[in-house]
Amino acid sequence: MTAKLRVKKVYKIFGDRPKEALALLAEGESKESIFQTTSQTVGVQNASFEVDEGQIFVIMGLSGSGKSTMVRMLNGLIRPTSGEILIDGDDVASCSGSKLRDIRRNKIAMVFQHFALFPHRTILENAAYGLKVKGVPAAERNAKALTALEQVGLSSWAHSKPADLSGGMQQRVGLARGLATDPEVLLMDEPFGALDPLIRREMQDELLSLQATLKKTIIFITHDLSEALLLGDKIAIMKDGRIVQIGTAQEIVSNPADDYVAAFVADIDRGRVFTAETVSSEPSVMQLNTDTAGDAVRTMEDQNLNAVYVMDGEEIAGVVTYQQAATADRDSGPSDVHLSDVMQTDYPTTDMDTQLADLYGAASGGLPIAITDADNRLVGVVEPEAVFAQLSVPSETAESDEADASTAPENTELKLEDAR
Ligand SMILES: Nc1ncnc2c1ncn2[C@@H]1O[C@H](COP(=O)(O)OP(=O)(O)O)[C@@H](O)[C@H]1O
Ligand SMILES: [Mg+2]
Repeated sequence: MTAKLRVKKVYKIFGDRPKEALALLAEGESKESIFQTTSQTVGVQNASFEVDEGQIFVIMGLSGSGKSTMVRMLNGLIRPTSGEILIDGDDVASCSGSKLRDIRRNKIAMVFQHFALFPHRTILENAAYGLKVKGVPAAERNAKALTALEQVGLSSWAHSKPADLSGGMQQRVGLARGLATDPEVLLMDEPFGALDPLIRREMQDELLSLQATLKKTIIFITHDLSEALLLGDKIAIMKDGRIVQIGTAQEIVSNPADDYVAAFVADIDRGRVFTAETVSSEPSVMQLNTDTAGDAVRTMEDQNLNAVYVMDGEEIAGVVTYQQAATADRDSGPSDVHLSDVMQTDYPTTDMDTQLADLYGAASGGLPIAITDADNRLVGVVEPEAVFAQLSVPSETAESDEADASTAPENTELKLEDAR
């Protein structure tokens, strides 16, 4: 993957004596004390990150943490006090005004939280507005705006006025306005921040389904960690102008960098963050035509398993539990028991991307869940205990490792009850 955007050691100080503030930052002074002693505001300090092409990169943090300042610098709307911001290798922090205009015209577009739709203009005109500003001729901008409206499912409303549309639909017009300019990088500063939860959910899904086909490079700002975790391929968490952690949703939730992040993570539904992949293990399998129930018993004893999958060549034939195999093997005396006599042909399956929350039911059945790929091949298994252990890990940074081992069995039983 190639990095579309590289941000290197960027600082933004608001005020007329930035050098003084930078010097104090270098001495380890806080944003607050610097403001008190110099009345300079630290907007962003020492921010570095990279965004790959086609990724959604989320910047998350409380109000005042520097998110908008960061995104305005990416856009060249304000220049950093120091540092580099490379878009395809061009530094928007230091390039000429004409180069910057060129980048903003051709590469990067912003979707604002309070984008205003013009009430007396049609939806099409509203969607085409960004192109009009860029001086694109009418026929071309209308065609592009119509394509963008199609992408958000609103082409049949092209000739209506904003007042004819619901709040959620108006939001989608705002999105279409950003998309119509066909930017390579889309900046979205809390675009769904003012929406009620249902419409917000709808817009998040809309964005994800658009992104599945458009594959834009998107910088998405939010103050809501669940939104960040849902949308972000990568997430940067900001506090007082600093980036305190960068990682995937799974990395952040399983390993919060400090108490600030841990406090956000505490309320998160882990079942919606982690997937089958997080808890998958290498499958240990028996072969239907060559292995016996006795072989299965020994394998499960060696590997401490409750059940094991049985393969017929490349295909899954069934699953056999320790109890079934051991009982049959014991009762048969010295003669071998064929696996087909003891295996169950009914077994739970899933794929790598399924969220853990959607595996509770299957996991509470007690059998390992078969993870299959697109060709229906067995690529892993999810042991039920692994699902419940993952969901019951406390997210405090400090004791999580110890607590993990000591509380898992208890919690597993509890959760099993809950899931039934
Ligand atoms: N134009 C400005 N002049 C002075 N201070 C500013 C300006 N813009 C933002 N700030 C300050 O910079 C910090 C970061 O603000 P902002 O980037 O808007 O945060 P966020 O978007 O995360 O809420 C805040 O302390 C804010 O008061
Ligand atoms: Mg902001």
